[in-house]
Amino acid sequence: MLKPWLIEIQHHLLPNLEIHSEDPFEPIVVHVYPKPWRLVGSGNYAAVLMHPGYPDVVVKVYAPGRPGIEEETEVYKRIGKHPAFSECLHAGENFLVLRRLTGVTLYNCLQRGLAIPRQVITDIDQALDYAASRGLNPHDVHGKNVMMLDGRGLVVDVSDFMKSEYCSMWDDLKNAYDRFYYPWVRGMRIPGFALNVVRKSYRKWKRFRRARGTSRSV
Ligand SMILES: Nc1ncnc2c1ncn2[C@@H]1O[C@H](COP(=O)(O)OP(=O)(O)O)[C@@H](O)[C@H]1O
Ligand SMILES: [Mg+2]
Repeated sequence: MLKPWLIEIQHHLLPNLEIHSEDPFEPIVVHVYPKPWRLVGSGNYAAVLMHPGYPDVVVKVYAPGRPGIEEETEVYKRIGKHPAFSECLHAGENFLVLRRLTGVTLYNCLQRGLAIPRQVITDIDQALDYAASRGLNPHDVHGKNVMMLDGRGLVVDVSDFMKSEYCSMWDDLKNAYDRFYYPWVRGMRIPGFALNVVRKSYRKWKRFRRARGTSRSV
């Protein structure tokens, strides 16, 4: 039987949604979406929306030209059911319907000054070990792709887990937590522009290190 949210998505959301990928390294831009849909977030591949009538699910719509939907579907098949991950309830041509995770991304926790207990980091670490045990390679695990809910950690974005190369983002974030997340920082609100500067500087620093690594090996 067709789920009621599927009809709403196909007949109302998708025909009235305008999203674009303006820069592959920046989040997708959502120009128009119909009421009463709400924008939950956007990443470099997709925009994520929810309908207040169906609060248990979100729709992740891939922007035209952005790859990866088949890979993400396969990742969710391999993960199956696990408390730290969402689940894929339906895969369409350019969208996935996912179980909604009601946590706050660690990026938003920093912005709002919500203290992140070490347990959150430990939970995410264990969830990533579980993913690895299912033949996946945790990749692109950064502050906007992990969440805190009731003091526990969740992984919200698994779209790059089929990639084969090592990605240091989670190890870097974990090290930064252990080295710099002093008790006096925990309640501090860090403005979005400052987090953006950190994000962009991190990307430049990584590119610089990669370039140095390449020239050394030549
Ligand atoms: N299952 C979900 N439940 C709640 N929010 C989600 C869910 N999936 C994604 N989001 C929100 O949408 C944002 C973008 O989704 P994400 O899967 O990271 O997209 P991308 O693969 O393009 O990076 C996330 O940072 C998060 O805020
Ligand atoms: Mg993401």
